[in-house]
Amino acid sequence: MDAYAIGAPPTERFNYTVVRQFAVMTVVWGIVGMAVGALLAAQLIWPALNFDIPWLSYGRLRPLHTNAVIFAFGGSALFATSYYVVQRTCQVRLFAAPLAAFTFWGWQAVIVAAAITLPMGYTSSKEYAELEWPIDLLITVVWVVYAIVFFGTIMRRRTRHIYVANWFFGAYILTIALLHIVNNMEWPATLWKSYSAYAGVQDAMVQWWYGHNAVGFFLTTSFLGMMYYFVPKQAERPIYSYRLSIVHFWALNFVYMWAGPHHLQNTSLPDWAQSLGMVFSLILLAPSWGGMINGIMTLSGAWHKLRTDPILKFLVTALSFYGMSTFEGSMMSIKTVNALSHYTDWTIGHVHSGALGWVAMITIGSMYYMFPRLFGAKEMYSKRLIELHFWIATVGVVLYIAAMWVAGVMQGLMWRATEPDGTLTYTFVETVKATYPFYGVRLLGGLCFLSGMLLMAWNFFKTAQGKAAFDPPVAEPPPPPPVPEPAPQPALAA
Ligand code: HEM
Ligand code: HEM
Repeated sequence: MDAYAIGAPPTERFNYTVVRQFAVMTVVWGIVGMAVGALLAAQLIWPALNFDIPWLSYGRLRPLHTNAVIFAFGGSALFATSYYVVQRTCQVRLFAAPLAAFTFWGWQAVIVAAAITLPMGYTSSKEYAELEWPIDLLITVVWVVYAIVFFGTIMRRRTRHIYVANWFFGAYILTIALLHIVNNMEWPATLWKSYSAYAGVQDAMVQWWYGHNAVGFFLTTSFLGMMYYFVPKQAERPIYSYRLSIVHFWALNFVYMWAGPHHLQNTSLPDWAQSLGMVFSLILLAPSWGGMINGIMTLSGAWHKLRTDPILKFLVTALSFYGMSTFEGSMMSIKTVNALSHYTDWTIGHVHSGALGWVAMITIGSMYYMFPRLFGAKEMYSKRLIELHFWIATVGVVLYIAAMWVAGVMQGLMWRATEPDGTLTYTFVETVKATYPFYGVRLLGGLCFLSGMLLMAWNFFKTAQGKAAFDPPVAEPPPPPPVPEPAPQPALAA
C-alpha cells in the first residue's frame, strides 16, 4: 500500500519526522532557557554567581534567557504544532519535505548562533530583537521557507474548509515576517555591529510596535492556534463556538496592532499615541476573553475529565492564566496604573503569568498529546508523572508571579513615597533590600517549574524508547449522570 494513502498509519501517512525533531528540541531548549532563567533569578540574590566572567554577566545572560525561551522553546513548539496541525486538519502530507527539513536545521542554526553571540556581548540592543544582522538575514530566509511549507500544505489540502487553528498559525507566520523585517531595518557597520535605521522616539515606537506584537503574535495568536486544535482533541468535544472563533480571530488581529504604545506610557512619545495605545489595550480585553471563554467552554459536558486527565488540566489551566494575564495587561496599560507598575517587578510578574502560565503550559499540554502519537506509542509512559508535573508547574508559576506582584507593588509605592517636606522616604537601596525575600520565593518557583520540565523529558524519553505504560491501570470513575434538558421557554409576547 502507498505509505501516504488514506488508510496508512498516521506515522507514515504524514511527515512526522520534522514534527518529532521540533518536539524533542522544544523540551531541550525549554530546559536550557529555563535553567538560564533560574540562574538569573539566583544572580539577583547572589550577584557573585557571575564569577566575574563577562560571559556569565547578568546583562548578557538576560537576553540569552529571553531568546532561548521565546524563540528556541516557544519557536520550536510552534513549528512542531503548526506542522502537525496543518497536516492533520488538511488531511495531506507537508508540502516540500526538503524545505521543511531546512526550516528545522535553519532554525537550530539561528538558536546556536544566538547562544554564542549573546554571551559574547554582540547585540543590536533592541529588546527581543537583539540578534545582529547576519543572524537576522538567516531568520528571514528560514521564515520565508516556513511560510512556503505551511501555506503550500494548505493549498494542497484534501478538505474544503480551512480549520480555524490554521488561520491563527497563518496570521502569526505573516505578521512575524512583517514585524521582523520592519524592526530590523539597520545599517551594518561591521560583521557584528549594526545601527538602527530609525532614531529617537521613532526608534522607540517602531521597537515597541514590534515588541508588543511579538508578544501578540509570537506568544499569543500562534498559541491560540495550538489551543483551537489540542483543547477540542483532548476534551473530545467540538470547539464551543465556531462563529466566536472567527470573530475572535479578526478582532484580536486587528486590535493587537495598535496597542504597542502602552510600553511607552509617560515617556516622550506624543501623548495622543500613548492614549491610543491605552484605549486599544482596554478594547483588547474583549477578544482575548472571547477566545479564552471559547476554549474553556469547549469542556462543556466534559468537565468530569478534568478530575482524571492531567493533559487537560495543563490546557485548561493555561487558558485560565491567559485570561488572567490579559486582564492584568489591560489594567497595566492605563496610564495611572502604569505610573506605578513600570520599572517594577510587577511587569516581570505579568510577563511570567503569560509566559509560564499561558505559553509554557499550553505547550506542555500539547506536547503530551502529540508525543505518543508521533512515536507510534499508545500513550505516554507515565500518566502519574504528568500529574506530578502539572502540580509542580502550577505551584511554581503561582510562587513566581505572586512574589513578583507583591515585590512590584511594594517597589512602586516605596519609590513614590515622600515626606511632608517633599524628600523621598526611602533610598533606592532600601527598596532593593526589601525585595530580597521575594527574589528567594521567585527562585523557588522557577526551580519548581524547571524540575517539572525535567520530569517531562524523562517521560518523553521512556515513551520514545517504546516502554509500555508504567502506571498500574486505574479504573476510570463513571461519568456523572446526564443533566436533563431545560424545559422549552414560552415564546415572548410580541
Ligand atoms: C524556570 C522558569 C523561568 C525563570 C526562573 C525565569 C526567570 C527570569 C528572570 C530572573 C528574568 C529577569 C527579570 C529581571 O530582569 O528583573 C526573566 C525575564 C524574562 N523572562 Fe523568564 N523565567 C522563566 C521562564 C520563562 C519563560 C518560559 C518565558 C517565555 C516563554 C520567559 C520570558 C521572559 C521574558 C520575556 C523576560 C523579560 C521581561 C521584561 O523585560 O520585562 N521566562 N525571567
Ligand atoms: C490583553 C493583553 C495584554 C495587554 C493589554 C498587555 C499589556 C502590557 C503592559 C501594559 C505591559 C507593561 C509595559 C511597561 O510598563 O513597560 C506589558 C508588558 C509585557 N507583557 Fe503584556 N499584555 C497583555 C498580554 C500579555 C501576554 C499574554 C503575554 C505573554 C504571553 C505578555 C507579555 C508581556 C511582556 C513580555 C512584557 C514586558 C515587555 C518588556 O518591557 O520587555 N503580555 N504588557
